[in-house]
Amino acid sequence: MKNSHWFLTSALVFGMHASHAQRKTIAQKVDSVLRLMTLDEKIGQMNQYNGDWEATGPITRDGDKQDQIRRGRLGSMLNVTGVEHTRQLQEMAMSSRLKIPLLFGQDIIHGYRTTFPIPLAEAASWDLEAIQNAARVAGREAAAAGVHWTFAPMVDIARDPRWGRVMEGAGEDPYLGSTIARARVLGFQGKKLGDTDAIMACAKHFAAYGAAIGGRDYNSVDMSLRTLWDIYLPPFKAAEEAGVATFMNSFNDLNGIPATGNAYLQRDVLKGKWKFKGFVVSDWGSVGEMIPHGYAKDHKEAALEAVSAGCDMDMESRSYIVSLAALVREGKVKVEWIDDAVRRILTKKFELGLFDDPFRFCNVQRERQQWNNPENLRIEEDMAKKSIVLLKNDHQLLPLSKDTKTIAFIGPLVKSVRENLGFWSYDWADDSARVISPWDGVQGKLGSGSRLLYARGCGITDTSTAGFAEAIDVARQADVVVLEIGEARDMTGEAKSRSNIHLPGVQEELVRAIVGTGKPVVVLISAGRPTIFNYTADHAGAILYTWWLGTEAGKAIADVLFGDYNPSGKLPISFPRTEGQIPVYYNHFSTGRPARNDSDVNYVSAYTDLPNDPRYPFGYGLSYTRFVYSDLRLSAPSFKPGGTITATVTVTNTGSLEGRETVQWYIRDMVGSVVRPVKELKGFEQAVLKAGESKKLSFTIDVEKLRFYNDKLQHIYEPGEFRLFVGGDSQNVNEIPFSLTAGR
Ligand code: NOJ
Repeated sequence: MKNSHWFLTSALVFGMHASHAQRKTIAQKVDSVLRLMTLDEKIGQMNQYNGDWEATGPITRDGDKQDQIRRGRLGSMLNVTGVEHTRQLQEMAMSSRLKIPLLFGQDIIHGYRTTFPIPLAEAASWDLEAIQNAARVAGREAAAAGVHWTFAPMVDIARDPRWGRVMEGAGEDPYLGSTIARARVLGFQGKKLGDTDAIMACAKHFAAYGAAIGGRDYNSVDMSLRTLWDIYLPPFKAAEEAGVATFMNSFNDLNGIPATGNAYLQRDVLKGKWKFKGFVVSDWGSVGEMIPHGYAKDHKEAALEAVSAGCDMDMESRSYIVSLAALVREGKVKVEWIDDAVRRILTKKFELGLFDDPFRFCNVQRERQQWNNPENLRIEEDMAKKSIVLLKNDHQLLPLSKDTKTIAFIGPLVKSVRENLGFWSYDWADDSARVISPWDGVQGKLGSGSRLLYARGCGITDTSTAGFAEAIDVARQADVVVLEIGEARDMTGEAKSRSNIHLPGVQEELVRAIVGTGKPVVVLISAGRPTIFNYTADHAGAILYTWWLGTEAGKAIADVLFGDYNPSGKLPISFPRTEGQIPVYYNHFSTGRPARNDSDVNYVSAYTDLPNDPRYPFGYGLSYTRFVYSDLRLSAPSFKPGGTITATVTVTNTGSLEGRETVQWYIRDMVGSVVRPVKELKGFEQAVLKAGESKKLSFTIDVEKLRFYNDKLQHIYEPGEFRLFVGGDSQNVNEIPFSLTAGR
């Protein structure tokens, strides 16, 4: 006790800033705490419990958590928020022998009080600054509510829209995914851990969870190590390089070894090769889940596998707290592994400043200030507008005039409020959080001379068409119809995998009925994943993919519908024509029998009943204006390692409105020692162009952009022929060849 008092006082005196010079000081302080700890107290630090609500897995209610806190048997809790509640629990920790503060973690996936667009929607903005700002606001709001740690960003690459968790990530591409991973980590963690508005981020789920077979959640993953390294690991590496404080392992097994017990992933790659200094938390119960996996016979063996593999904290399975001490005593678990895990966890507690002041995130005033904070709402609206993707706009049906006499606003989501928040969002019990429905947003835009008519038409999952007659009647009275259809907020998310991702119920029949009136029809699709809507794609006049946009959804939708914001979103994932095409992704390999075009199906790699290409390709998204690419040039046709080529292209806005274009650069390695993708995104840039304006954009090619993992898993580049592509999506591109010659 005496020692710990001395130590805590000295921590207070020296202050706690994780600058480089002081990191050593933190290491010394961690060691001095570690020396005071019993084995049970150390294992306690590696133990995390849920706060009994907001659960995403079975809750273990046995035992008295509060008693365990007081006995130093708990290092962290999840799903505990709010200044008052976190203070209460922290006070309990302060009555423990060593007064080691608790860490409070929470899934702040796309906002806390202010709900931002779902992460997949944000990714559609390709706007890294906006994405970072969104995470910054989420971090600030959460930190003000006593939270120290978010279980985000999810950086899993997802090529399968049947997987419900596709909504949580940045889509299918490793390059885009890496840039977004970095932006989100920087956003959550702010200037530095230790600031009271910064929370720890967590790169999850390590690794390859997004490739769950058949898109079924929690399922196995079987993939080559080359695919793992080329496609699935880069966003994790980017998060690590951005300084992410923690990693979470995952539910899936990877090639037969559960990720939670996977030493290759956690010890060899993450803590070894990448030298990651933070700590790894398990996913919910995933240590214990190695038993049903058939990888461990009981919790004791599961604890042994997980801790040996480098999993530092056990979320909710209680395998560590129950079995680790015995495993150490039996000599099966080295005490150095325990010390290493505890050191990592304590280091973060020091960096957060919790040893200085365990209550520094418990400030009622700060919490209130972040409640419905207008600046946060403004940032949310900006993010929401930028997330919307214009998929179709025949005859420039959009934008609508604010003076349109009569608009019929039809569909099950028109007056939706909570649906706009999407999965992984919070329902505030006091109902005081404002959410703008599409109806309110549109109404707020219209002048007094305009009429807005409403009909629901059907419910999201209805099989009845009873409401169609009224909807048709309302449509007939209007100059233009806006239909809003899509998914309910709980249809895409964790454990929400679906084999059928067509728009649910009779919603597309509603579109057909309204199109049948002959009125111009704009369709808004609000959903958490790529859905399938072929009738709508073929027959609606205009389509906006509006995802789940969050608190200011209605305002953002109205801004885009009426042209106050010219849509700029680009799909971060390919949209399939039908489920049978899945997985469909743009950066696939070339086969030995590639199809030349959609009608080329004779003994080539093709479906006889479906084109190979998706309904909408990766990177796709229209604008109310038009961008033309011309004059693609290279500074030289070839270069040597150490050198570069500068590519330039002119982009011209040939329409009559200002617009924002995301210029995408792709490369293909024509011949390799292993087969290479037909195209890989290697860079992008956003340009805002006035009507008639041209801009010359450039892109530097160097060998770093040509690297890939060969069959020996070496990250190499190979001399030879390449092609450079540039365009506004992954399909519609201009191209030019270049080569890399050997030698310096
Ligand atoms: C399970 C999810 O897989 C993970 O992403 C989440 O952070 C935890 N539950 C905690 O809620």
